[in-house]
Parts: sequence; structure tokens; C-alpha cells
Amino acid sequence: MPAIVIVGAQWGDEGKGKATDLMGDSVDFVVRYQGGNNAGHTVVIGEESYALHLLPSGVLSPHSVPVIGNGVVIDPGVLIKEIGDIQARGVSCERLLISANAHLIMPHHVSLDKVTERYLGQARIGTTGRGIGPAYSDKVARTGIRVQDLFDPAILRQKLELVLREKNQVLTKVYNRRGIDAGRVADEYLEYGKRLASYVADTSLILNQALEEDKVVLLEGAQATLLDVDHGTYPFVTSSSPTAGGACVGSGLGPTRITKVLGIVKAYTTRVGAGPFPTELTDEVGEWLRKTGGEYGVTTGRERRTGWFDAVIARYATRVNGVTDYFITKLDVLSGLEKVPVCTGYEIDGVVRADVPMTQTEFHHAKPVYEYFDGWWEDISNAKSLSELPANARAYVLALADMIGAPVAAIGVGPRRDQTIQLRPLI
Ligand code: GDP
Ligand code: IMO
Ligand code: MG
Repeated sequence: MPAIVIVGAQWGDEGKGKATDLMGDSVDFVVRYQGGNNAGHTVVIGEESYALHLLPSGVLSPHSVPVIGNGVVIDPGVLIKEIGDIQARGVSCERLLISANAHLIMPHHVSLDKVTERYLGQARIGTTGRGIGPAYSDKVARTGIRVQDLFDPAILRQKLELVLREKNQVLTKVYNRRGIDAGRVADEYLEYGKRLASYVADTSLILNQALEEDKVVLLEGAQATLLDVDHGTYPFVTSSSPTAGGACVGSGLGPTRITKVLGIVKAYTTRVGAGPFPTELTDEVGEWLRKTGGEYGVTTGRERRTGWFDAVIARYATRVNGVTDYFITKLDVLSGLEKVPVCTGYEIDGVVRADVPMTQTEFHHAKPVYEYFDGWWEDISNAKSLSELPANARAYVLALADMIGAPVAAIGVGPRRDQTIQLRPLI
């Protein structure tokens, strides 16, 4: 009964889509367990590149069943468009399953996400503006609307009227925006319900049955450890639990089912949006990393902030996720550097520490302490084994493995599936 969690170990965009796709042919179910269309997962197959937002990356593997779990927040208009777009490229979505318990992103969530960010000014989080935070807030406040509500028009209208009574006051009186018409939204969403109905299922039941039958279930995280609402750099985080524990809550599988936690980590670091980032490079080297690594957001097109590998946060990710194996991606991007710095600790108020500090204030004051590794110049994008890597690239990866506290199962040397050096079985 293998149930494997894929989790981002930094601030997102580590290459989770590629890792999921790589395992796709040996996996029966690929489950998204949190987040929404704030995610952007790129999968490159041959000459084709796919950018997935709500659909699990498993949709690209003909043998696996893609599942949108209860922990995801779904913007149904966006999902229907994503299904249509990918089907137009010849990818079938017929096997897709959507949890009846997943919450919906409603028009007022998107409006509130945008106006609250504007209201925060300099203190803004830099959200993707997709309504993620407000949708999760309503879920926890018990005023959310779920997929199953789309099949009970009376309940949908009643819930919408109730919630909009309050939200419209906020939108019009606090933020000076137009109110939202409950009847119009209900009609629009009931139409979405008709189009999504055939996919809706009791996904927790199906996944547990699959594990009983020894099927392989892959739980594909979105966002990442340092964006986790509990374990990330709060308040500069997303509003869900991307860490491995969230995979159970967001899919309806018990913790004893999880057999492996695969951490995905870039050979350097990036971040989109605001918040602390100790190893950030704001100079031309940072710009070089951005250009060489193609570090522009898949969802918003924003420039990603770039910096050196931070072993402090990677070790932290190992700890809070119980990572059993790592996939180090984008090693190829680092070719051509004289020296490759790695942050091994933080200096905070004159004291060097090896762990993520307890408070956010200390994190904001953290200055990276670097160890410098010799660089390599060769193009490594065709390397198929560790021995085909230049000695310095090999030494760099082995040093990272040592620092982060879990073995390296695979190394990415390019965006394509076959540009992967596999050291240990991924399943
Ligand atoms: P995700 O959100 O974690 O799925 O990652 P993104 O898709 O947002 O960003 C990762 C980017 O790096 C994508 O453009 C991938 O195609 C690309 N990528 C993944 N692994 C590698 C790798 O090993 N080398 C290179 N050069 N690119 C990679
Ligand atoms: P994937 O799955 C990188 C960031 C946003 C912002 C913060 C909160 O592709 O790794 P939100 O819209 O979620 O309320 O924004 O989280 N963020 C991501 N950064 N990759 C992502 O997803 C992200 N999803 C959200 O930039 O700082
Ligand atoms: Mg991404």
C-alpha cells in the first residue's frame, strides 16, 4: 500500500510537477491535497510543455487517476477552462475525480483577495490574487461553499445569500467596491455544477480502497514548506498546509498510510511574493540565476526572487515533513560559477545558529553564513549517472545531501523527464 507524499522543501516552484510526472507511469492515483490555482506546475514531455494549476500532474499519465482532494479550494470556472484547454491538446480528463467536500472559490473571494492586498500597501503578502486566502478563511469560519452544494440549488442559494449579506457590506462599505448579486452567482455556479458533476466522487473512500488493493497513491503537494500556514514564514505564507501532514487531512488518508515523503528542493532557492529570504541575491548574480533558471512565475508571470541554497531551511523541511528522500532539481542551472555558496547557518544578533529561529523577528534579522564549494563549467544536461557529473558538481550534491539530513534519490539536470539522474527508487 504505497502512499507517497511529494512536498516542496523551500518557497515553491522546486519542480514538484516534474517529479510527479516522472513517477506517473508507476502510479495509480495522483492526488492534489491542498492549495488551488495559485499553484503552477510545469511538466515537460518531449517538445510539449504543460502548465497545470488545479489539475494534478498525473493527468498527463494515461494510467493514473488524477484526484482533486477535499483539501483543495476549487475555482470551478478556472477548472473547467483548464480541462477544456488540456483536452484540446489531446490529454484526456475522463478519469478525473473531484472530492465532494472540497471548498469552492467564489467571486467574493477573488474580489476580497485583491482589495485586501491593495489595502495592506507596503505590508502586502504578494498573493497570486486568486482568492485562496479568503476561500480558506471562509472554510475555517464555516461559511464556505463546497462542491456538493452545487447539487442542491436551494442550499446553494441559501448559503450564498447568507454569506454575501456580510461580504457585500465589507466590499461596499470598507473597500468601496460593488456588491455581488447572490442570484447571479448561484445561476453561474449551478451551471458549473452540471459540467463537473460526472467527476465528483467520495475520493477518500476510493483512495483508501485503492491502498487496500495495493495500488500506488501519490499525493502531490502544491506550494511548499516555508509557505505553510503553520510552519512557514507567517504571515508571508499561503493559507493551507502544504507540509506532509496536510496530505492526510487534505485527502482523507490516515497518517499510518504514508510510506514515503519525497522532498523536492532546488539546487538554489527562489521565492515569489513578499517575506523574508535570507540568501536572496539582489545583484547581477541574482539576475543571472533568474535568467539562467527561467525563474518567472507559471501562474502570475512575476519575476521570482533568487538566492543561494539554504541548508538551514532544507534541514527544517526534513524535520517538519519527515522527509525520507530528496529530489534535487535544477543542478544544471549552476554550471558556470567559480564558487557555489551554500548557507549553512544564520547569524542572528551576533550569534551563529544552525536552525530556523523560533520567532519571525529573528528570521527577518538572519544573515546567511556561507560555505563555498568549487564550481564547474561543463554542460551537465545530458548526464545520466552520478559518475557522469563533473567531480565538483558531484561533491556539491553529496555535500547538500549531508547537510539536509536525508538521502538524495534523484537529481534534475534539465526540465525533461529523461534529464534526471536517479540514485534510489522513487516508489
Ligand atoms: P513546481 O511548482 O514545483 O511544479 O515548479 P514550477 O513548474 O513552477 O517551476 C519549476 C521549473 O523548473 C519548471 O519550468 C520546470 O520545467 C523546470 N525544471 C524542473 N526540474 C528542472 C531541472 O532539473 N532543470 C531545469 N533546468 N529545469 C527544471
Ligand atoms: P507552486 O505549487 C510559489 C505564494 C505567493 C504569495 C503567497 C500567498 O507552483 O509551488 P496565495 O495566492 O497563495 O494566497 O499567495 O504564496 N505562492 C507561491 N509561490 N509557488 C507557488 O505554487 C505559490 N503559491 C502561492 O506568491 O507570496
Ligand atoms: Mg510552480
